[in-house]
Amino acid sequence: MAKTKTVYYCSSCGAEAPKWSGQCSDCGEWNTLSETTAVVSSRQRAANTSYTGSNITQVQSLDSVEPDDVQRIATSISEFDRVLGGGLVPGSVTLIGGDPGIGKSTLLLQALVNLSQQQTTLYVTGEESLQQVSLRASRLGYSEAKVPLLASTQIETILQQAQSSKPQVMVIDSIQTMFTDELTAAPGAVSQVRECAAQLVRFAKQTQTTVFLVGHVTKEGTLAGPRVLEHMVDTVLYFEGESGERYRLIRAVKNRFGAVNELGVFAMTDKGLREVSNPSAIFLSRHEQAVPGSVIMVTLEGSRPLLVEVQALVDDSQLANPRRVTVGFEHNRLAMLLAVLHRHGDIVTGDQDVFANVVGGVRVTETGADLAVLLAIMSSLRNKTLARDMIVFGEVGLAGEIRPVPNGQERLMEAFKHGYKRALIPAANAPQKAPEGMEIIAVDRIAEALDAC
Ligand code: TYD
Ligand code: MG
Repeated sequence: MAKTKTVYYCSSCGAEAPKWSGQCSDCGEWNTLSETTAVVSSRQRAANTSYTGSNITQVQSLDSVEPDDVQRIATSISEFDRVLGGGLVPGSVTLIGGDPGIGKSTLLLQALVNLSQQQTTLYVTGEESLQQVSLRASRLGYSEAKVPLLASTQIETILQQAQSSKPQVMVIDSIQTMFTDELTAAPGAVSQVRECAAQLVRFAKQTQTTVFLVGHVTKEGTLAGPRVLEHMVDTVLYFEGESGERYRLIRAVKNRFGAVNELGVFAMTDKGLREVSNPSAIFLSRHEQAVPGSVIMVTLEGSRPLLVEVQALVDDSQLANPRRVTVGFEHNRLAMLLAVLHRHGDIVTGDQDVFANVVGGVRVTETGADLAVLLAIMSSLRNKTLARDMIVFGEVGLAGEIRPVPNGQERLMEAFKHGYKRALIPAANAPQKAPEGMEIIAVDRIAEALDAC
């Protein structure tokens, strides 16, 4: 017997509430609850419980469970394989989020064309017509590719097709356009997105199909609709960078089969996305001469060190509340660094606008950028340049100390490989044996770092 009930879903966190209220009791967002009619039959509820695809309900001891040998499938796009943790895992579900026009459909089409030479594939498009997909394919030079396409937005039809054609890799573009007959809400509503994703996850686990879900992001940069999507899937990848820029970065923010924060770098060309296998050098602006406010740092994204340029501009403010603006760097950390600079370096920026920018659309999420940002601010404030051949990394603590960051040696080697001859780094990161010809300036306190420059 099917029974109908009305529930309210929060569009921000996906929480379910029996009653409407102005504020979501789970995440505290206002005006996010929307009403849907949920029909839950007892048959479906039973099916809901089996997410993992395993029917064993006995208790087993951990040591008696043999791990499956995960056979990874390479997509032949090595930067994509890298963020996935070394290729596709059969039965895994991957969510790819990103701004409109950033290249989600392009990347997945390229991957599917490569995969279709050895695997059975299926590309489900809910946003574009088959003609539009074919137009893109011919633009990419794949007009001869034999990738099965399906234009549909109804999840039951899609799963039925998939049951009969048995693809090994399936792409759903996008999850927000899908709907199930079991719910009355419009496609894109939280309940629809959630239920469709749940059905696809179940299908993937039961049939060992690798599924890619394309997800839209909101203005704030998180996935539109429920955050719960991120909990349901195995891997979450985000496209970073601006759609107007040439370089596109893909970051793994969750990965059950590999490292997170792993970064894949691509360039958008007129023939689709091309991998950039040596990305270190592309994020530097290569000034003719040293300029004030510019510092080169080595950041570590996943397992790969990356040279990036941090810029700062400090200017007399006309405002009562001077501006603090960051691009590619956490806003709160800038405020913290300015406070540390004031207390431990006696440098006042209270009457100055401070802008900090990481060049090239890179988003630095680690604390190793602190020292570089701090020195860039000082350099701009004093209008003095730093040595051109110097790199910087290190975390700044509230007590004015310079703290070590992971993988110091790797960062130094990367800088050395690109011709940098000096490194200003935390004392605890100082290597026992520096690369030959590289001068290491190891500092413990902010004052020492400022003196050294
Ligand atoms: P698309 O993959 O459709 O983005 P998404 O699915 O994330 O919305 O990418 C479309 C953009 O990429 C569009 O602005 C045009 C550009 N593009 C190229 O520059 N070169 C190409 O070869 C292709 C296919 C797209
Ligand atoms: Mg698209």
